[in-house]
Amino acid sequence: MTEALDIVITKAETSKLNVMDFDHLPFGRYFTDHMLEADYENGEWKNVEIKPYQPLLMEPSLSALHYGQAIFEGIKAYKDIFGNALIFRPYDNFKRFNISAARMSMPSIPEEIFIEGMRQLTELDKNWIPAKKDHSLYIRPLMFATDTELGVKASATYKFLIMLSPAGPYHDGPMKIVVEEKYTRAAPGGVGFAKNAGNYGASLLAATIAHKNGYDQVLWTDSSEHKWLQEVGMMNVFFIINNVAVTPSLNEGTILAGVTRDSAIILLEEMGYKVEERNINIDEVTGAYKKGTLQEVFGTGTAATIALIKELKYKDFIMQFDILSWIAAPELKRKLTDIKEGRAKDKYGWLFKI
Ligand code: COI
Repeated sequence: MTEALDIVITKAETSKLNVMDFDHLPFGRYFTDHMLEADYENGEWKNVEIKPYQPLLMEPSLSALHYGQAIFEGIKAYKDIFGNALIFRPYDNFKRFNISAARMSMPSIPEEIFIEGMRQLTELDKNWIPAKKDHSLYIRPLMFATDTELGVKASATYKFLIMLSPAGPYHDGPMKIVVEEKYTRAAPGGVGFAKNAGNYGASLLAATIAHKNGYDQVLWTDSSEHKWLQEVGMMNVFFIINNVAVTPSLNEGTILAGVTRDSAIILLEEMGYKVEERNINIDEVTGAYKKGTLQEVFGTGTAATIALIKELKYKDFIMQFDILSWIAAPELKRKLTDIKEGRAKDKYGWLFKI
């Protein structure tokens, strides 16, 4: 069957939906019945296809595996209280995907494949959207290099995929975080602002060491002084200090321009907070804690939405927070959820109806 944009759709013969346990949905473990696939060859995208979710066949020489040209996005679809299937801010992820592509010397993807392909795929598998608190259908677009030779150069061919995963909450609960002083996530001139696979691979050692020491993740610092704060784990970070919301600025290109970060800035301002996007260092944070003006610390991201931080460790100094007394982060999360689920007006046009 062919629809607008000439996407060839082959439907799965049987659905896995009736064997899915929607009460146990660890983040990103299960995938829906279908996926989207497209190929880039001779300077153009072709073979745009929706087909049953299945393994890929690849040669050992696939250049993405060797040299890391691979980028992705994370987007969520929800069901609102009226039963409509909605995707949250997909155009922002589309723009960021192409920013990542440019930085990694990869071709851009046209809107009709990314957005319209995602719409048709999500429409086909919309019964997989969990209608449950803190649950959603996580949408994962991915592009990787598919040349099969070992010379180091930008690949001439690429594959674009979209897969869908019904997902529960990313984190179990409030997090314990340690300030990272040895390893670096991003440096000016690097790839920190891009959502490329290597950024995540490079972050794993620090996270593994943090786990061994009883922490959930690290708070990344700059590459030269290890003092200026960047991101927390895979999320943007916010501090409420003296009723002002502070988040590291994007100016140096070391921080991912989070879609949830942007939504949080807008909603915090609506809630009456002054929001400052600026450089912030760990001494300001410990100083505010000692003075009693550090009120809240939280992460923002598509996967985790708003993640509360109950403990922050810098060297031997441990900052603990009574998260039950917090005001900003819980209200922010409520406001965001109310928009996504149709209880509050979508005045910024964030919801994309499937
Ligand atoms: C997201 O929030 O979508 C992320 O980037 C986290 C993901 C790598 C699981």
